[in-house]
Amino acid sequence: MILILLGPPGVGKGSQANKIIDGFGVTHISTGDIFRKNIKEETELGLKVKEIIAAGELVSDDLTNELVFDRLSNETSENGFMLDGYPRNINQAEALDKWLSENGKELTKVIYIDADKDVLISRIAGRRVCKNCGATYHVVNHPPKEEGICDICGGTLIQRPDDNEETAKSRIEIYEEQTSPLVEYYTKSGKLQRFNGNNEIEEVYLEIENSLK
Ligand code: AP5
Ligand code: MG
Repeated sequence: MILILLGPPGVGKGSQANKIIDGFGVTHISTGDIFRKNIKEETELGLKVKEIIAAGELVSDDLTNELVFDRLSNETSENGFMLDGYPRNINQAEALDKWLSENGKELTKVIYIDADKDVLISRIAGRRVCKNCGATYHVVNHPPKEEGICDICGGTLIQRPDDNEETAKSRIEIYEEQTSPLVEYYTKSGKLQRFNGNNEIEEVYLEIENSLK
């Protein structure tokens, strides 16, 4: 199974990805997570992308495509993989199509999750992530048992540098300009299915689960 998770910032791609991994055993490839890991470890790539990501802008296509194809070339999971946050514009989508066809692979489905803009902003502003293990919480929708502390590993919960309201708004604008044309791109190929991300996490997952069975 080869899946793409498509949707605006804060819609719940990462939250659904965790459930899809548990349910279907696919490998999760999130370009945002890979970039953040590199920033944390202060690698050469991390230093290159740190400022771009904090500003909510997109990393260059060349750098992102190379990173993804390198990761996919080493992908051995029997159940396939799920891309989260990639592709992010038509250029990346065309590059992915080319890579898939050159490697004899076919896209199974594009899971497109959408939600109202005010919902996105309040989700981004309330999100907290564990500094240690990366688990995601929300101060209202999905709070940890003890404020500021990760339920899973006891790590400290922090806010992503790109999660302030101003940067969130500009990330949503960039999404509308550059990423939302992918909805039409994948609708044309007949692979896209839309899910209502305004609903609760469990409800959204139930619909995705049924569509993948
Ligand atoms: P990336 O990490 O991909 O961020 P994003 O697309 O902005 O999406 P988010 O991770 O912010 O949101 P999400 O949809 O995963 O929501 P989540 O599940 O956490 O990219 C970050 C940056 O990296 C980019 O800005 C860019 O700079 C760079 N980058 C990445 N990929 C790139 C690419 N391909 N090309 C170029 N640059 C790239 O949920 C959000 C919150 O809401 C959480 O608190 C959660 O608990 C809560 N929540 C989730 N679902 C629900 C629900 N149904 N009901 C109630 N609360 C919910
Ligand atoms: Mg995410």
